[in-house]
Amino acid sequence: MNGDISQSQEWAALGKHHEELAGKQLRELFAEDPGRAGRMTVSAGDLYLDYAKHRATQETIDLLVALAERAGLRERVGAMFGGQHINVSEDRAVLHVALRMRKNAELVVDGQDVVADVHAVLDKMSAFSDRVRSKEWKGATGQPIRTVVNIGIGGSDLGPAMAYEALRDYVDAGIEARFVSNIDPADILGNLRGLDPATTLFVVASKTFTTLETLTNARVARRWLVEALGEEAVSKHFVAVSTNAEKVAEFGIDTDNMFGFWDWVGGRYSYDGAIGLSLMIAVGPERFREMLAGFHAMDQHFRTAPFNANMPVLMALLGIWYTDFFGAETRAVLPYSQRLHRFPAYLQQLTMESNGKSVRADGTPVTVPTGEIFWGEPGTNGQHAFYQLLHQGTRLVPADFIGFAEPFEDREGMHDQLTANLLAQTSALAFGKTAEEIAAEGTPPEIVPHKVMPGNRPTSTILVTKLTPSTLGQLVALYEHIVFVEGTIWGVDSFDQWGVELGKKMALDVAPALTSEEPPQTFPDSSTEQLVRRYRELRG
Ligand code: F6P
Repeated sequence: MNGDISQSQEWAALGKHHEELAGKQLRELFAEDPGRAGRMTVSAGDLYLDYAKHRATQETIDLLVALAERAGLRERVGAMFGGQHINVSEDRAVLHVALRMRKNAELVVDGQDVVADVHAVLDKMSAFSDRVRSKEWKGATGQPIRTVVNIGIGGSDLGPAMAYEALRDYVDAGIEARFVSNIDPADILGNLRGLDPATTLFVVASKTFTTLETLTNARVARRWLVEALGEEAVSKHFVAVSTNAEKVAEFGIDTDNMFGFWDWVGGRYSYDGAIGLSLMIAVGPERFREMLAGFHAMDQHFRTAPFNANMPVLMALLGIWYTDFFGAETRAVLPYSQRLHRFPAYLQQLTMESNGKSVRADGTPVTVPTGEIFWGEPGTNGQHAFYQLLHQGTRLVPADFIGFAEPFEDREGMHDQLTANLLAQTSALAFGKTAEEIAAEGTPPEIVPHKVMPGNRPTSTILVTKLTPSTLGQLVALYEHIVFVEGTIWGVDSFDQWGVELGKKMALDVAPALTSEEPPQTFPDSSTEQLVRRYRELRG
């Protein structure tokens, strides 16, 4: 639908339904409908979703699905997979799904077979990774590579860093990866500490190859290497991942050692392509391709499953339900897996850079809240930190719990304890504990109110057999498509990020004033000017 979805009759129907349902407890919903838990599940590939603990009934789901139809979701999915320019503000196709299409697929976009292009890059990455992993690729002194340092930021960092952590158990060639992103010198200096230039390979990852942080860190790394091994060592120790061959060459990296991608891959959607090079070197091309197959399996599910049995669609619609009808501001993502400790951070860019928008694709202002705030930490750590607020605070925080049946390794039944905590938390959040139940345990009356657990706090539970390259791909694709569905309902362009540009440009203007001998120039605001003066005093 073009225009304001909140003016549709489907939106109004949901508003009315919300009035009827808002006062209902999950306890009541379960008591009224004993078949609820059995029905409110959906499988997609290796992921199993239980969404019974949501403040929703079959009617809610039907109304939300009708809203998705009204928003033209079906056509939008077709438009994305068909390579139409749905990123309107940048006039680009949005084809991260092509990064994981099978070799024999064909997709011609703007006159170019993008699947063939994708596989040519994947083959080049695989060949390079194999050479590094087999020690055939040698550094300038003839020694093999032991550490890969990925230098990138945002989408050129969070994806490979998150996935490297997630798949640490699959790192098998004795090559460690490190990730440097921040312009804070502590990042690069800390990461270079202990490294031997002769055995270090830098992957400079930047879609645009103009990003200040990345180019600055890359220059520091280059100097560190050249001081130790000389200028001629650069070609053996630096490779680039970018869409911008000209800038790569300008920086002094041989474009033969460049792995490309295209403007139709958004930075935050790019780690399953060349941006994943450091990950591929660490886990090997075969594992990387298993991960791509996982992504593809979720793509196929998203593309073909009916909306009421479609995992990303259901999870997105429930996100809309809480954001726009219950007024929830955030969604917690709580993986019960230490390996996924960077997953919430990764999702923050994916979801918030995509849907943190206040105008629709046609430039008109949105009229309803958009862009859920994603945050989280692995369980059980979060339980001992912020779950108190989830259980008894005044805010509604819907949460996604993610658990795995099989650990990579186990000791003393630890993994079952981990899962028991996940299950206990979702149950406690949903059903709580009443004052009567607490009093019946002999609690003094004045303490009872403190112990009441209100319950009625909604959660999704995603259960997966094991964290593998494939299931990681499925999980990431799940959230990519959740973003897409929510963006479609809100009518925003989920694929641009103009909001980050102004601050970047202003930093360039401020930087000279911090070091200049001259009195600080007049800034547009007096507070910033005062802070510049103060900083200069503190710096001496
Ligand atoms: O500043 C935001 C952003 O443009 C992200 O969208 C992107 O992932 C990141 O910067 C890094 O950009 P690049 O890969 O071009 O260096």
